[in-house]
Order: sequence, then C-alpha cells, then structure tokens
Amino acid sequence: MFVFFRFFIFFIFGLSATSYTIAAEMIELKPNDAVYVKMGKTVYMEQCASCHGINLEGQDGWRDTKVDGMRLAPPHDKSGHTWHHADEVLFKLTKYGFKAMISEDYEVSMPVYDGIIKDHEIVAVLSYIKSTWPADITEIHDR
Ligand code: HEC
Repeated sequence: MFVFFRFFIFFIFGLSATSYTIAAEMIELKPNDAVYVKMGKTVYMEQCASCHGINLEGQDGWRDTKVDGMRLAPPHDKSGHTWHHADEVLFKLTKYGFKAMISEDYEVSMPVYDGIIKDHEIVAVLSYIKSTWPADITEIHDR
C-alpha cells in the first residue's frame, strides 16, 4: 500500500509539474549506469572540475585553508568526505546550495545549480563521482 501511495504521489507530481523535476526523496544515484556516468562526466568537466579538480582531487589545502572566510573545494574521491553523505543530501547540496541547506549566513564559493543544470544532470554528475569510488566505499555509501 505504501509503495502504491508513493507511486501515486509521484504520478500526480509528474503530471502537475510544468518542467520535468525529480522529487528529492526519490533521488538514487546510478553509478552502474553507463549512460548516466558518461553524461555526468561531461557535466563534471564543464561545471565542477574547475574547483573540485579534473581528477576529483579538490583544491590544495582544502582541509585547513580558507580564502575570504570560505572553505576551499574538497576532493570528491576517497580522501574527501563526499561519500559520507547520502544520495539525497548530495543532490540537495548541489541543487539548492549550502546556504539553503545550512544557513543564509554561510559563505561559500560553490554556485547554486538550480536553474543552471537540470535535475537529471545533477543525478548524472553525482553518479559519475560515485562511479569513481572504490568498491568498499560504494558499499558503505549504499547503506
Ligand atoms: C566555484 C567553485 C566550485 C564549483 C564550480 C563547484 N563546487 Fe562543489 N564545493 C565547493 C566548495 C568550496 C565546497 C566546500 C564548501 C564548504 O564545505 O564550505 C564544495 C562542496 C561540495 C560538496 C559537498 C562535499 C562534502 O564533502 O561535503 C558537493 C557534493 C559538491 N561540492 C558538488 C559539486 C558539484 C556536483 C559541482 C558541479 C556541478 C560543484 N560542486 C561545483 C566549490 C565548488
């Protein structure tokens, strides 16, 4: 019944939404989907690599350096903490930004991607990031 209800809500949501958006609580990354991962890599190189690094290595000194009171971009690989967050949290942080998720007073250089890239591109880019993690990390993240 519950499953049916969720489906129903999603159906109504899909019908009423004028532009195609994904309900945040339905977010599931697709690191094993080659199409998503490929699209995500393109988005990553265009939108994220300038800060997070072409090899997802982050900016030098990200752990303890601040520039204008703002943190530097952390790596998205095993050495960072991206993998500590659930799919849905990563999606919301990328789409709505840190201010919306933490506080208006929070100063951060990362852009808010709502309106810049589409929801499925956010899922794709995070799926690409996830696809680069070693199996042990992916397994922990899935739980
Ligand atoms: C202008 C630089 C910049 C760009 C471009 C950028 N980011 Fe970030 N990102 C940051 C910074 C800085 C942080 C850390 C913010 C903080 O913790 O205060 C961050 C943090 C994150 C986090 C949280 C990581 C964690 O370990 O908590 C995610 C997820 C993320 N970025 C994803 C993306 C994605 C996906 C893109 C591209 C669509 C992107 N970022 C583009 C600067 C950037």
